[in-house]
Amino acid sequence: MKHNKEAPDLSHRVAATDDLEISAYLQVAETRKVLADQESEVPSSTNSPISREAVVILDFGSQYSQLIARRVRECHVYCEILPPDAPYERVQALQPRGFILSGGPASVYDTDAPKLPGYVLETGLPVLGVCYGMQLVAQELGGLVAPATKREYGHAVAYVNDTSSRIFTGLPFSFSVWMSHGDQVSQLPPGFQVLAYTDNSQVAAMGKEKIFGLQFHPEVVHTTEGKNIIRNFLYEVCGCEGSWTPGSFVSDTMQRIREQVGSGKVICALSGGVDSAITATLVHKAVGDQLTCIFVNNGLLRREEAERNIHTFQKNLQMNLVYVDATDRFLSRLIGIIDPELKRRIIGEEFIRVFEEEARKIGNIDFLAQGTLYPDVIESTTPETKAAAKIKTHHNVGGLPPNLRFSLVEPLRYLFKDEVRAVGIELGLPEEMVYRQPFPGPGLAIRVIGEVTRERLEVLRAADWIVMNEVKRSGLYRELWQSFAILTPLRSVGVMGDGRTYANVVAVRAVTSEDGMTADWAHLPYDVLARISNRIVNEVPGVNRVVYDISSKPPSTIEWE
Ligand code: XMP
Repeated sequence: MKHNKEAPDLSHRVAATDDLEISAYLQVAETRKVLADQESEVPSSTNSPISREAVVILDFGSQYSQLIARRVRECHVYCEILPPDAPYERVQALQPRGFILSGGPASVYDTDAPKLPGYVLETGLPVLGVCYGMQLVAQELGGLVAPATKREYGHAVAYVNDTSSRIFTGLPFSFSVWMSHGDQVSQLPPGFQVLAYTDNSQVAAMGKEKIFGLQFHPEVVHTTEGKNIIRNFLYEVCGCEGSWTPGSFVSDTMQRIREQVGSGKVICALSGGVDSAITATLVHKAVGDQLTCIFVNNGLLRREEAERNIHTFQKNLQMNLVYVDATDRFLSRLIGIIDPELKRRIIGEEFIRVFEEEARKIGNIDFLAQGTLYPDVIESTTPETKAAAKIKTHHNVGGLPPNLRFSLVEPLRYLFKDEVRAVGIELGLPEEMVYRQPFPGPGLAIRVIGEVTRERLEVLRAADWIVMNEVKRSGLYRELWQSFAILTPLRSVGVMGDGRTYANVVAVRAVTSEDGMTADWAHLPYDVLARISNRIVNEVPGVNRVVYDISSKPPSTIEWE
């Protein structure tokens, strides 16, 4: 498609009315959910990134739908999650090789239970129904579903009746499965066979030709052969070949970006984070100097962060980079500010001002490139209650403007984080950047507890540098979701040499997490903790005590503010 400023299908382009209306969307670099919301209604850049083999996952409200998608992608098959009431054109556009029907909280006999869309069986394509998905198929094809005499939740052992069945090819005769259901198939639809059973479920798996149903959840890790079952469905039943690779993604996506952008001008805010870095690199590869990146140093970055970014993007990747050192502006606005939410708001507002000023200098911008990821898109299209439970309000600081002046280029909007990283490696970005731990938009301001001053930032930077280096040296950096230091507002008594000290307390935080929504404190080896503590008190002036945070989320949060 050729770029056309007037074309409505390309566009979220609407005039912004004031500076703050372009609001926090770039400052809160990780905050993309609202955009995803808007985007979900507008098909401009929602066209799927590839036209190769794909399967469609219909989401009947399961908490595990995203996991199904991840497992499918891990098998190198492209998939998208769609609601059962999605227009058929969206399904058709993907030219799916098959359907996976997720589980869901409803019972097929509930009056408002989501129904199986007619096209699923009419197309004659392969179907894999999981839990509620299987019950829907059973009901639709003339079987019976009834409440289980005993609700089955958690581990069970499945025994395979028919090891020659295509979805069980190469699998052992029995394996652990994860069950979570109240209803079950009590009578098979005509022509179907029981393929596996458990102690409590006579029909743990059923099948006929290309239609299969599983009462257990193959997508969760507790189902030991789950991924193999999904792979069998994709490869043996749907005939997929695994064409979804980082390499194919990069070449397809570059082509799509060129089509979307035409000869237009693109800007992208670099935060130093993985998603914006990879977005910018992809867009740059596709349209070269039509892209300008803006990198605002808010004075709240980690040590050497600004230099590293400039080096990577300007020197190594030869991008047009506008670097703005706005440290003074940010720090002067933070004088006397203690409240964390106020800090966030001020930083957000200031960012927009700086960004606006720089964008204006560039002039005539058509597109804004953003690193929206698939989980944000999914959350925005799932039922409100489900999404609402997941989204953290403070990430939407300031909110996003209802209207943006630019069309969005979102090359990562169908990728999961691990896929984004694989793409980053494919693009040749340094591993250090690709596997960087998440870092909050407001930066060190929410890790200096209390007032943020240059001096306190320097103390924190020095301590944080030691944490990062020691964690990396121990080989644990990638296993941890985040690891960092916090400068507490406390002072404590110590003794150094023969003298008494009364100095700062630094806290160390390291957590493991899948997605940042829940987290466990990391059980770092004592020798790593000892080295961190020893080095901080010896090397960072003004610190005489180090404590380790052993709280999980919930009830704590990852950041202290
Ligand atoms: P919490 O502290 O809420 O953080 O457990 C969860 C994840 O979000 C990051 N975080 C932020 N990211 N702006 C951001 O861009 C913010 O205001 C913000 N607050 C927390 C945090 O680092 C963790 O990864």
